[in-house]
Amino acid sequence: MRRLVAETTLTTADLVAPVFVREGIDEPQPIASLPGVVQHTRASLRKEAGRMIDLGIPGLMLFGIPSAKDAVGSEAWNPDGIVQMALRDLRADYGDSLVLMSDLCVDEYTDHGHCGVVDDHGEVDNDATLALYQRAAVAQASAGADVVAPSGMMDGQVAAIRSALDGASFPDVAVLGYSAKYASSFYGPFREAVDVTIVDGGDRKGYQQDYRNGREAMEEIRLDLAEGADMVMVKPAVAYLDILHRARLEVDVPLAAYHVSGEYAMLKAAAANGWIDGDAVALETLTAIKRAGADFILTYLATEMAQVLA
Ligand code: PBG
Repeated sequence: MRRLVAETTLTTADLVAPVFVREGIDEPQPIASLPGVVQHTRASLRKEAGRMIDLGIPGLMLFGIPSAKDAVGSEAWNPDGIVQMALRDLRADYGDSLVLMSDLCVDEYTDHGHCGVVDDHGEVDNDATLALYQRAAVAQASAGADVVAPSGMMDGQVAAIRSALDGASFPDVAVLGYSAKYASSFYGPFREAVDVTIVDGGDRKGYQQDYRNGREAMEEIRLDLAEGADMVMVKPAVAYLDILHRARLEVDVPLAAYHVSGEYAMLKAAAANGWIDGDAVALETLTAIKRAGADFILTYLATEMAQVLA
């Protein structure tokens, strides 16, 4: 009876796996603060993506760690940059069997760790950054991305990327906006995963949202949709279920939630201590995110949950 009347059911089809691929390594590298998650080599990523397809996971979100970083993050649009090469590998290996999403930002590629160009005063220059995102979008689409996902929270980024994609004859490449993205301390382990330290103890409060604000998130989502976003995201997930729910009531496009690195790390740490039942808490957490309104969830739990749900 409980199964019959359940309002929300989590399935593997709801999950997107964030994955890291690193240039210049021969073996996958563990990430201490994300137990079970690794920085992949191109070869190990190809294998892992095959495993995801076998498990029924519909898509992945790709992040790259380049060997060299510079002031503008030029590896983000180098045709032979690590993410572009990995996209070509996966497209060649698996065709349309996996939705290939790529995070579109420059913070993994800049030597100062900011999501854009930094001006003489140390502030991120919003409008100068848009041109870089346009180049990265075209590079990712050319390499085989189905979905590009701008995560830098620059004003006007979705419109800029949409026009660049259309201008380069990629009208079918979708834009998933990290629309309601908060300046969050839950991203700590991710910074280790992508080897990013923001220069001078800086933060992203100048371009990501203040966690005290909720209405502002709705405005950000409306702006992204007006600019042509095909899907929108709320990030992080668990501390922002109210935002997710509000977004669900307001928009009818696909809505994503990102269960981020710190949320995963806390769950894993408590489970490793035997303080909680890891699988049960993971299932409850992801089901709650879906109940709040997400159509799909980016989560480092994707492969293990797929096994639990099988
Ligand atoms: C930016 C980006 C970040 C995350 C996804 N894309 C970090 C940031 O904004 O500082 C965080 C994801 C996570 O914590 O799991 N490229």
